[in-house]
Amino acid sequence: MIKKAVFLISNTDHTKCPEPNKPEFAFIGRSNVGKSSLINMLTGNSKLAKTSGRPGKTQLINHFLVDDKWYMVDLPGYGFAKVSKSIKDTWGKMIMDYLSARENLVALMVLIDSRLEPQKIDLEFITWCGENDIPFVLLFTKSDKQSKSRTKENVNRFLNAAFEIFQDKPQHYITSATSGEGKEEVVAFIEELVSE
Ligand code: GTP
Ligand code: MG
Repeated sequence: MIKKAVFLISNTDHTKCPEPNKPEFAFIGRSNVGKSSLINMLTGNSKLAKTSGRPGKTQLINHFLVDDKWYMVDLPGYGFAKVSKSIKDTWGKMIMDYLSARENLVALMVLIDSRLEPQKIDLEFITWCGENDIPFVLLFTKSDKQSKSRTKENVNRFLNAAFEIFQDKPQHYITSATSGEGKEEVVAFIEELVSE
């Protein structure tokens, strides 16, 4: 269980992020997929990370310190159609530089909208993670928005598409920031890695 989470700093530059002296877990995924909401749900603090109904809310690399032991990082989303190409390139570079440089990154939590069939941009992103040796797990979001069977169908389709790429199915969790589904499992996954 997470007892305490505090905001530390926002950055565009990974070299100005906190010293990489604690295990780090970062949250990424398409704009509006629910990264900031999930961070708030997992920490039990609805005001920690800023959320919005409009995509493109989170624009910086945001570090939070959890239980004085590990860093949780809220990242800007990818695939936000309404921003210009130059901004997209700047964002992409910022995120990819950060992900490649952070030696304390234990796992990247890649959020996938459980309402959608597999999206090309998500498959491209996890392919990039694989090519760059970035360890990731999949967190399917917004499970409260449809029936359990529909969620399962979309999750299986995504896992099958991932199997085509990796010849393996990535570790995954089904979550909802609204209902709290997946909270215990995701926190337990992280805390186990932190305590190693
Ligand atoms: P960016 O920072 O713009 O990349 O978005 P984000 O991925 O951080 O998404 P955010 O957490 O801001 O949530 C986007 C919208 O989805 C908000 O309107 C949230 O209330 C809603 N939302 C997020 N998670 C859930 C969920 O589990 N269930 C439901 N029903 N809505 C959710
Ligand atoms: Mg956000």
